[in-house]
Amino acid sequence: MKGVVLAGGLGTRLHPITKVTNKHLLPIYRKPMVYYPIESLVDAGIDDIMLVTGGNNAGEFLRLLQNGKEFGLTHLNYTYQEGEGGIAEALALCRDFVDNDKVLVILGDNIFQNSIRDHVEAFARQERGARILIKEVEDPERFGVPRLDGDRIVEIIEKPTDPPSSYSVTGIYCYDSQVWDVIDGLEPSARNELEITDVNNFYVNQGSMEYSVLEGWWTDAGTFESLKKATELVAETGTVKA
Ligand code: G1P
Repeated sequence: MKGVVLAGGLGTRLHPITKVTNKHLLPIYRKPMVYYPIESLVDAGIDDIMLVTGGNNAGEFLRLLQNGKEFGLTHLNYTYQEGEGGIAEALALCRDFVDNDKVLVILGDNIFQNSIRDHVEAFARQERGARILIKEVEDPERFGVPRLDGDRIVEIIEKPTDPPSSYSVTGIYCYDSQVWDVIDGLEPSARNELEITDVNNFYVNQGSMEYSVLEGWWTDAGTFESLKKATELVAETGTVKA
């Protein structure tokens, strides 16, 4: 299975601190933000990784991460996303890298307390389709939110004003090789991005979307509130590596 870390975007929700640097280079306690998702992948046994960056200071990732020796890797792949076309557009840049393999995508501003190894192994065993991790949160309206019917997800709604459940779709997405055709068929959303939630809804409609409920804490770090929360959580309890 290949791993993709998405660390592009302009981080406008964190202006002015992201005017001169990339969000994923900001510190979370003792390390730059992007370290945490890479550590999650490596801990789960994924060592063939591509990092998608873009916007400001893209070159700094190479200087910081080099060939990934600090993570126990011998090689890291990099690509560049122009502009802010959305998560699914960033993923599309990894098509040749992933080829016919399965892929796990992790958002560069998502931090997970516990190992994601069980989730990765469950997807490795899955014959086809996709797999996401969901987590009960206090503010689902900030995220993609699943509507559940019994134990099946029947729909995912991006940033709903009236959330159909108290779960958030976290920023870890596992896909089989259908994902490239799905992205090819996407139309830009109202915010002019190719939405990962539209990709996920394809699999939901196909009946091939599986999920697990995450144990341990999880947070994004793309707003001032969540950036502060991420730093506090890492400082208090640590993660797989911290
Ligand atoms: C993105 C996704 C959303 C998901 C979230 C997880 O939101 O669009 O579905 O729940 O990441 O962090 P964004 O951070 O782009 O607003």
